Amino acid sequence: MAKESVNAGYYRMMQRATPQSQRGADVFITGTDTGIGKTYVSVTLLQALRAQGHTAIGMKPIASGCTITVNGLRNEDALALQVACNPRPDYAEINPVALLAPVSPHLAAAIEATRIELAPIHQAFATLQAQAQHVIVEGVGGWLAPLREDLSVADLVRSMDLPVILVVGLRLGCLNHALLSARAILADGCTLLGWIGNAVDPTMRAREGNLDTLRHLLPAPCLGILEHQPDSSQQIGALDAAVLSIQPATLHDSELPTRDPP
Ligand SMILES: Nc1ncnc2c1ncn2[C@@H]1O[C@H](COP(=O)(O)OP(=O)(O)OP(=O)(O)O)[C@@H](O)[C@H]1O
Ligand SMILES: [Mg+2]
Repeated sequence: MAKESVNAGYYRMMQRATPQSQRGADVFITGTDTGIGKTYVSVTLLQALRAQGHTAIGMKPIASGCTITVNGLRNEDALALQVACNPRPDYAEINPVALLAPVSPHLAAAIEATRIELAPIHQAFATLQAQAQHVIVEGVGGWLAPLREDLSVADLVRSMDLPVILVVGLRLGCLNHALLSARAILADGCTLLGWIGNAVDPTMRAREGNLDTLRHLLPAPCLGILEHQPDSSQQIGALDAAVLSIQPATLHDSELPTRDPP
């Protein structure tokens, strides 16, 4: 990278810097599967945090299935997160690893004869953390999705030292997927802050029975239920509890917020 561009990036970052004393919590959003609403929930969470007067940024560290544009590779999820951010970072900070093929990232990387590395992700994450109180990091696939032959989403989360929210896509089969995911997250030594039910299938049968079962069997609290609703901004209220509860759990003493606690 040219020296000028490094300096310009650093200068911009310092201009936008959020003092450490005002930082809130960052969180990793994983899901019971691909296509169950990780982006939808992340965008809603960003909107909810912003509605409460927080600065919040979304990140999609690794994305496959990108589109070629004049500005480079672009991914739908990362663009949706970028629109929901305040402040709004550069695309490359939100999505440092962009891959073309719409397949698992480790296969997409192999097609491009490249290897997914953690260093650029950590660097981009630090830059985002300096810009806002919260960084909401969306995973790729589910908890054990491979990123390399020796690296999975779980390893990525551990390397970023992030607590986790599990999005449960409410559809047939979600009980098994949710319980397996929660068990794996805890077995990997990560903190499961809670789960969010997302009504991705509006025709799901026995929904309330499934929700009761999830509430009883998942080893973490329910942080909200999102209805089937194309406009996620209509559901900000449903996540209030989640937004409030992700703060204290991950704050370090040196990072206590200056605002009144909820
Ligand atoms: N609560 C909801 N109401 C209506 N539509 C929804 C809801 N949740 C998700 N969707 C839609 O379902 C589709 C999949 O959701 P989304 O892209 O958020 O899943 P994902 O888990 O992020 O997928 P990926 O694994 O590709 O990142 C999208 O078209 C999204 O708009
Ligand atoms: Mg997504």
